[in-house]
Amino acid sequence: MNNEKKFRIGVLGSGKGSNFVAIADACAQGKIPAEIAVVISDVAEAGILARARERGLRAEFISPGKFRTKLDDDAERAFIDTLQNAKVDLIVLAGFMRILKGEFLRVFANRVINIHPSLLPAFPGLESWKQALDYGVKFTGCTVHFVDQGVDTGPIIAQQTVPVLAGDTPESLHVRIQKAEWELFPEAVGALARGEVQVQGRQTIWKPAQA
Ligand code: GAR
Repeated sequence: MNNEKKFRIGVLGSGKGSNFVAIADACAQGKIPAEIAVVISDVAEAGILARARERGLRAEFISPGKFRTKLDDDAERAFIDTLQNAKVDLIVLAGFMRILKGEFLRVFANRVINIHPSLLPAFPGLESWKQALDYGVKFTGCTVHFVDQGVDTGPIIAQQTVPVLAGDTPESLHVRIQKAEWELFPEAVGALARGEVQVQGRQTIWKPAQA
């Protein structure tokens, strides 16, 4: 055991939490050299909170306030305070379905990442697997990116392709994309926790740490 401070992750999610589970399990198995300091949801009954509590992790519901697609000022402050009190080094959006802007991104500049279920910049926004199917692409996938002031526009950290197969439904395609997400997201979070990813403008550069 060394006494080095462990890299601390805050996770935000609104849904069932399968990406959170992939990351939490990778932390528990030592594949990501980090610990999950807190999990926050804007949805009181979200599965992600239950999955976190099952693992003995701190899990909090914070009411998002009066808006449908973003946090109101009080909620944004509460999210920021909770994450700062938990001393997080990185904030991981794992199916967090509200747009974060302004003060939140100023406080945590270059420390917020998101998983998106398409190969950005194609199909930003909601139900990207359905957008891909409707468009008729033969490949889609998932993207891990830094969060900036735009919607799904920040510098790309990692991507994985997923084929669209004959007979796919939105549901079957989403399942295949999620399986790719469970591989890609822990890999990207691990690289960030090891300090192997640098951002230069829109470019992110992966430099494996020297053994
Ligand atoms: C994931 O597929 C993620 O890509 C998507 O929400 C799902 C959350 O699933 N995120 C977005 O669409 C963000 N715009 P999970 O709760 O099982 O991890």
